[in-house]
Amino acid sequence: MATDSEEIRGIGHSVKRVEDDRFIRGAGNYIDDVVLPRMLHMAILRSPYAHATLNSIDTSRAAAVPGVIAVVTGELMAQHNLAWMPTMSSDTQAVLATDKVRFQGQEVAAVIAETAYIAKDALELIDVDYDPLEPIVTPQRSLEADAPVIRTDKEDQKDNHIYHWESGDKEATDAAFAAADKVVSLDTFYPRCHPAPLETCGCVADVNAATGQATIWMTSQAPHVIRTVFALVAGLPEEKIRIISPDLGGGFGNKVPVYPGYVVATAASLLLGRPVKWIEDRTENLISTGFARDFHMHGELALKEDGTMTGLRVSLLADEGAFHADAQPSKFKVGLFGIVSGSYDLPAAHVVADGAYTNKAPGGVAYRCSFRVTEASYMIERLVQNAAYELGRDPADFRKQNFIEKDQFPYTSATGFIYDSGDYQAAMDLALDKIGYAELRAEQEAARAEGKLHGIGLASFTEIVGAGPHKDYDILGLKMNDGAELRVHPTGKAILKISVKTQGQGHETTFAQIVAEELGIQPEDVKVMHGDTDNTPYGLGTYASRSTPVSGAATAMVARRVREKARKLAAHLLEVSEDDIEYEAGKFSVTGAPDKVKTIQEVAFAAYTDFPDGMEAGLEGTYYYDPPNLTYPFGTYAVAVEVDPDTGEWDVKRMVAVDDCGVRINPMIVEGQIHGGLTEGYGIAKMQLITFDESGNCIGSNFVDYLLPTAWETPRFELGETVTPSPHHPIGAKGVGESPTVGSPAAYVNAVIDALRPLGVTNIDMPLTSAKVWTAIQEAKAASSA
Ligand code: CDP
Repeated sequence: MATDSEEIRGIGHSVKRVEDDRFIRGAGNYIDDVVLPRMLHMAILRSPYAHATLNSIDTSRAAAVPGVIAVVTGELMAQHNLAWMPTMSSDTQAVLATDKVRFQGQEVAAVIAETAYIAKDALELIDVDYDPLEPIVTPQRSLEADAPVIRTDKEDQKDNHIYHWESGDKEATDAAFAAADKVVSLDTFYPRCHPAPLETCGCVADVNAATGQATIWMTSQAPHVIRTVFALVAGLPEEKIRIISPDLGGGFGNKVPVYPGYVVATAASLLLGRPVKWIEDRTENLISTGFARDFHMHGELALKEDGTMTGLRVSLLADEGAFHADAQPSKFKVGLFGIVSGSYDLPAAHVVADGAYTNKAPGGVAYRCSFRVTEASYMIERLVQNAAYELGRDPADFRKQNFIEKDQFPYTSATGFIYDSGDYQAAMDLALDKIGYAELRAEQEAARAEGKLHGIGLASFTEIVGAGPHKDYDILGLKMNDGAELRVHPTGKAILKISVKTQGQGHETTFAQIVAEELGIQPEDVKVMHGDTDNTPYGLGTYASRSTPVSGAATAMVARRVREKARKLAAHLLEVSEDDIEYEAGKFSVTGAPDKVKTIQEVAFAAYTDFPDGMEAGLEGTYYYDPPNLTYPFGTYAVAVEVDPDTGEWDVKRMVAVDDCGVRINPMIVEGQIHGGLTEGYGIAKMQLITFDESGNCIGSNFVDYLLPTAWETPRFELGETVTPSPHHPIGAKGVGESPTVGSPAAYVNAVIDALRPLGVTNIDMPLTSAKVWTAIQEAKAASSA
């Protein structure tokens, strides 16, 4: 219980996470904890083929199993106009296959039964007749003239090409390249990986036939959008759909899309009049839900003799899978890839992107990323490192020479993004200082003389988070603004309802701190609610580090709005004019008479008991925030590695991460976010890969093949911070959650390549498994002895 004299634990305080109490005690309420009376269980039959014609489905044996209530096929869904659904990219996706299967793991039929075990067992008794077709497993093959068309369901689709998109100024970029003294290029592939949250996806759908009320508990990072999509797809009235997203065991982008399982479970509940639960198993999650990345990229940097960067060209080919399903603002076909010029003052840039269908699961989700900014950051940081070597320059000095200077902000990039604020040099200097860069380089020299493979890698990323301003940012036409609703009760305790959905980030703690900062109510006296569409303001959801920049800003603004009313109440109580009231940390005092004070708690009580005539009772407000711009966090990551030439295994000796996310609301939570993100970046760089054999079989369908780093493998991280507030955010905060996953893979890869450069290795694609690194060493040795 807070006392009057206590310092208000608002912004900048490492308040312990309130949500941990229930999680540590095993008292969280996750989707599989939701149990309703008369609840049935659903299991999904998935295609064993990547590409096949679906001739027939015989469900009779499965339907005859005791305990099976129904077997649902695409044909049945089609009778209700639900065999196909729209995707977040305005494409269509099969809910249950009717004509063909287009990726291994695609949903073909569903069994609804009294228990989950009966449902799963009955799947084996469904007889499906398939005719296999040529599987297309690369976007390059997909775009060849003789490749079979994957989306034969779409009348106008005559090939496998989905989109062509360009950004920047082609003419100016061509001119920069024509005048260049040197051009450096890089071909790289950012492989398909998967967010793999600890908790898989699932739902419990409960449609009440009598009232028409549909309540759906769902693992969703964006419940409001899903409700709107459900209303539009199923034709249900929106007020009768309630999506509740309970505690989530991680999301990382994987829980943004609408998955067929949600739709089938809801339809089944509607038809059967009983609640239906569907919980994915691990393999289903890995083979059929939103993957990430899968970008083949070519980049070129135009340079002057002295190392000045003058132009950047990037072309990329995106493997989107069988249905184009990634959520991107409709203006940006490849999301925020346009920010590929990174931290550098590049006068000209041009990006060309093409997307292709393949026989793989759909997705392309923003895995701890803002709409493809990870791929962009990786591209530029790999290219810049290569350019430094080709120029014979130190990679740190070369970067510094080309950084956007701190007095150039707000800075308009060559592709039209307005960077809000930054001091890239300061972050780089701190990182170099912390890791002892000069000494490390000297040690590297000495180690090389002994034949050891030591490497140092850098990445000076610039990020873009907090989508975004309504004029440019939307998902399916829904503008990316978010809300916050704050009500202060008579005893001075408050409830804050936010539009974003927490999934481990600690919003219940940090958003209460924002209220504490603005209104002087201690964070433990502010309850934060989220994830229930009937009880929270509208918003686009939590992904792309947008919670703090958008809903966090709405929280600050609504608290300020409430404070203005509180000021009026204080003036009434203190019998002075409003202009004579001063506010500081939860106290309203009279100018010149500091002992005449009313606390926010006293004012709150008066809002219900002693308010002036003509004033509305209560102390509350709602605010929808339309950000003036996105925020641009940045930082420098520096990694030192040693590679074992005999095994290809590489060890991280040091990892220094300097992040600038503007004003930090809760430094401890920020550090936790950075630790988590750096671990995921390390996993992606070293071991996480979803790949496919030539038949389109998914390799990486379980945690034996798809490797996640545990505490055992994860390096020790040394963190540093600089603070450059965002002028476009009411409290100067920028998002932080995704930066370490966006920025760190290039640092690890650059370090390993740096170690192998004496052998002649200049490029290896992720993940850098020891087998792959060993092979690169052998090939380099063979090439040099040939
Ligand atoms: O959208 P998401 O919550 O995943 O990302 P975020 O906005 O970067 O926030 C992640 C967590 O870090 C939240 O609890 C934020 O409130 C907190 N944070 C902070 O304390 N200070 C910042 N400058 C940025 C984020």
